[in-house]
Amino acid sequence: MSTSYVNGRYVPHGEATVHIEDRGFQFADSVYEVFAVQDGHVIDEDGHLKRLWHSLTELGIAEPMKQGPMKVVMRRLLSINRIRNGALYLQVSRGVAPRDFPAPQGLKPTLVMTVWRAKPFDGSAVKAGKVITMPDLRWKRCDIKTVQLLAGVLAKTEATKQGAVEAWLIDEAGNVTEGSSSNAWIVTADDQLITRHTDHAILGGITRQTLLKLAQEYGLKYIERAFSLSEAKAAKEAFTSSSTVMIRPVTQIDDDIIGDGEIGPFSRKAIELYGAYMKEHP
Ligand code: PDD
Repeated sequence: MSTSYVNGRYVPHGEATVHIEDRGFQFADSVYEVFAVQDGHVIDEDGHLKRLWHSLTELGIAEPMKQGPMKVVMRRLLSINRIRNGALYLQVSRGVAPRDFPAPQGLKPTLVMTVWRAKPFDGSAVKAGKVITMPDLRWKRCDIKTVQLLAGVLAKTEATKQGAVEAWLIDEAGNVTEGSSSNAWIVTADDQLITRHTDHAILGGITRQTLLKLAQEYGLKYIERAFSLSEAKAAKEAFTSSSTVMIRPVTQIDDDIIGDGEIGPFSRKAIELYGAYMKEHP
């Protein structure tokens, strides 16, 4: 059995528990991060921690510890579990208090971490998949990475039922915001690489941010702007990005085949660049 971390203690996973009046459980008053781990390195650790602090600050949840000690705990947990390739999940809730809507001041935040093993990212083994589309039913602060994930859970459950790898969420204007747990990308007929601009309507993905940096370094032009579902369906290529799946080419959206139905050159380049980046673990 693996070991998890709960409020200062390293405990067997099956005994890792929080109180039933934890505000994370009662109100989803809680934020989280998922870090990819490859060859013993936590990929984009500082980027994820920066976003975690954004989430904490926006919701007025106290920091459970400084970033330095948090990195030490993360490393210790990976080392106890002997994980060199896999992922680390970290959650911070506002803390435990009798159930009442107003958030009490001065609560001690709850900090938990779990880890799991996974194969390292292998670009040559990446498979394309289908995405379905669903209305974006989420709240208006998707830039904050909260555990309030029910809309995403329902969308992804429906995607899985339909044999799809992801659900792309569509806003009231008919634009694709992002996937239920990934960012969305397309390549238009005139070879423009497009991903939606960041604002309160989407999560600013760390993989997305790194891919944009790699695209720039490589000299690949991109545009950050909203794109419609019909634009996506007419695209030459499409793919998703996230810390768990990395890059996933999309060759079908609902019933429409994207491009020639094969993994295209932009998607291959993104896989290659990101794969190399993970190996270099900067
Ligand atoms: N989800 N958009 C949403 C809604 C997400 O939940 C995620 C990640 C992303 C991609 O972000 P990043 O590249 O930083 O992983 C975009 C994680 C993996 C999860 O909830 O499991």
